[in-house]
Amino acid sequence: MSLNISSKDHVLKPLLFRNKRSSSARSSIIIHRNICASAQVGLLYGSATGNTREAAFLIKSCLGRTVSDPQEISTVRPQDLLQKYNQGIIIGAPTWATACPEMRTGTAMDDFLWQVREESRNSLLSGLRFAVFGCGDASQWPDNFADAIDEVYTTMAQAGGQPVGHWRPVRGEEYLNSRSKSFREDGHYYVGLPLDNINQSHLTRSRISSWCLQLSEEFSLKGDVQRLTSSDPFNMSEDSRLASNYTYPRSRVPRWSTSNERYHLFGSRLTANWYQFGSGEGSAGRWLKFTDDSVLMRAGLRGQPEYQLSYSAITGFRLDPLSGTESVTLVLFLEDKQRLTGRPWSKQLVLKGLPRSDVPGFCSFLKERGAALH
Ligand SMILES: Cc1cc2nc3c(=O)[nH]c(=O)nc-3n(C[C@H](O)[C@H](O)[C@H](O)COP(=O)(O)O)c2cc1C
Repeated sequence: MSLNISSKDHVLKPLLFRNKRSSSARSSIIIHRNICASAQVGLLYGSATGNTREAAFLIKSCLGRTVSDPQEISTVRPQDLLQKYNQGIIIGAPTWATACPEMRTGTAMDDFLWQVREESRNSLLSGLRFAVFGCGDASQWPDNFADAIDEVYTTMAQAGGQPVGHWRPVRGEEYLNSRSKSFREDGHYYVGLPLDNINQSHLTRSRISSWCLQLSEEFSLKGDVQRLTSSDPFNMSEDSRLASNYTYPRSRVPRWSTSNERYHLFGSRLTANWYQFGSGEGSAGRWLKFTDDSVLMRAGLRGQPEYQLSYSAITGFRLDPLSGTESVTLVLFLEDKQRLTGRPWSKQLVLKGLPRSDVPGFCSFLKERGAALH
């Protein structure tokens, strides 16, 4: 299918801005004043460990009242977008599911995209302008850098969305040597803004500032664009300031800690009692729900096939209370005796980010159902 590609002029604009940039030491200065009239653009994101979330807050900081407060994607229904944000949306996702054809984000964004695809025959997003950003790691995953941008982009475009925000890196701010499905070789641009907060965090604010200037024109936003200049791209105190009227419990965004464990549950309870985990082995994230009589497992939260594991399948769990002030590590050993996944399944799951206050209740819940505490 052919996608509506915006003018190459758009991807060159950041270069113009960079050349004119002043060396002012002020932390935030007005770089552009757009006089066109428009309403708010929606700002949506999915995030597992917080980088994309924080990028969303930086975009909010740049574009101010012309965009909505950052909305976590599980709180948004695709069918409401056109009515709610008829000026367009800015949408961001990380890449976790390396080389997967879909479900690449490992966040609730996967469910959102799944639902958009389900509805795409109805031109769900017909005419809605959208711009995509995403976080990745070009050093660890040089063959799949920020691939999820492409999945979001393609899914939205196939549902009738009109893309803006194509990105050509500013000279001197190129990415580490890498390949990405979101890069279009023919036009030498990315279909959205990739951010590498793992290796190039010092460039994040500058990239976001340039991209926001471009978006302001492409969305015809009415309002000032602020340039971010702090050397620390993700300053949590600034994040808190921006989030002053935004109640996102910190315990819901536990930090990912890389380890050699095979599976990591990172307990973002975006929907009541569903816990998300990612494998780190190239497969998409999965969700678990601990109900009274079974553990339910599914690839997403909106209609994907669901597997049911009995509690007899939990052969034990180990509690590590030393892993920080906000969370504990809980290691579960699950065995799929019913072969519900279609093959023998025995995995060690590490649950991170369970709020301390939830741990005693969660442990007795499992013990009552026959799990042994190691
Ligand atoms: C298991 C695992 C797989 C990952 N796969 C990719 C990948 O395929 N491509 C990529 O660019 N980054 C990959 N990353 C890096 C994440 O995208 C990066 O850490 C990003 O900042 C996470 O964003 P978030 O904090 O919003 O979840 C991976 C990280 C982990 C731990």
